[in-house]
Amino acid sequence: MGEVIEFGILDGVASTTIKKLHKAGLVTLESIAVTPPREIVELTGMGMETALKVNALARLEVDPGFVSATELLEMRKHMMRARTGSKELDRIMGGGIETGVITELIGEFASGKTQICYTLSVLAQRPVEEGGFGGRICVIDTEGTFIPERVVQIAESRGYDAQEILGNILVARAYNSEHQIMLVKNLPQVCQEHDVKMVIVDSMIGHFRGEYIGRGTLAERQQKIAGVLGNLLRVAEAFNLSVVLTNQVQSKPDSAYGDPNKPTGGHVMAHACTHRVYLRKGRQNTRLIQVIDSPYLPEEKIRIAITEAGVTDEEGEWDIYDKEDTDEIEI
Ligand code: GTP
Ligand code: MG
Repeated sequence: MGEVIEFGILDGVASTTIKKLHKAGLVTLESIAVTPPREIVELTGMGMETALKVNALARLEVDPGFVSATELLEMRKHMMRARTGSKELDRIMGGGIETGVITELIGEFASGKTQICYTLSVLAQRPVEEGGFGGRICVIDTEGTFIPERVVQIAESRGYDAQEILGNILVARAYNSEHQIMLVKNLPQVCQEHDVKMVIVDSMIGHFRGEYIGRGTLAERQQKIAGVLGNLLRVAEAFNLSVVLTNQVQSKPDSAYGDPNKPTGGHVMAHACTHRVYLRKGRQNTRLIQVIDSPYLPEEKIRIAITEAGVTDEEGEWDIYDKEDTDEIEI
């Protein structure tokens, strides 16, 4: 969580150094304290001596020990939740998409990942009284699938002023993995300047998978992905905002158990994302959803619909089909 550090709070550290830290996404004392000096050097380009010094000073400033569960609860009170468009989805997400953590939407093509992103970009910017965060949305689009017309359609279907909604969404197209890395590094500045409350990366792994091909490149690829995820997590904590990532599945037919489709990005992705949400195509315009691998959310299977208004609850009697379709999800 942590306060965004002000220039000069670290005694004896030059403001240019603080600026370098900010640029690298190290915007809280906590994030500086927990980042190894060698990584601070890599991220900021500052010398090792300076990195050692800021790391040590930051560790002195933050309480490195335990906090009581009461304090933890107090910290989590600042956490907010944004509604998704589907009450059922909100319910299994514990009330909506959380701030301070990364939520990952996993699924094969046309499973509805981007449709959830569109809907969130409209709903999460709504005022807090309406179940939103009352802030701007920042979208990093790596696939060129974020089409403003769809935002307009969702906004108008829900009776909102489409121009106002569009004005609160900042979109950056990432053309390759290095570009994506750079855009994520710039997030602290963008989030501060524009009061961003949700960052969407659609999709997180695509470029990396496309560019790092072959076994020999795996370690480097995973390291780069870990760097981006680390920066995203720091931004989520420092600005108390939601990070939502999409991730495709890859088929691993040799897997010994369960669903042969595994999320891409491996352990690095699995560890960084607090809530992993698995989407499956259902009958007609419905999608089956299950939270997997969350520290406290139940692994219940629910169904949403994709309509003109984006993500909604399914209307009508769906129990009849429920058993048949939900049995498809075996993770
Ligand atoms: P990839 O990006 O290819 O991995 O897939 P995705 O999971 O992001 O899929 P996406 O969210 O783009 O979902 C596409 C599906 O949404 C398609 O099957 C469309 O039929 C459906 N869809 C898109 N727009 C509309 C709409 O206006 N109305 C309805 N009913 N469905 C829509
Ligand atoms: Mg998509």
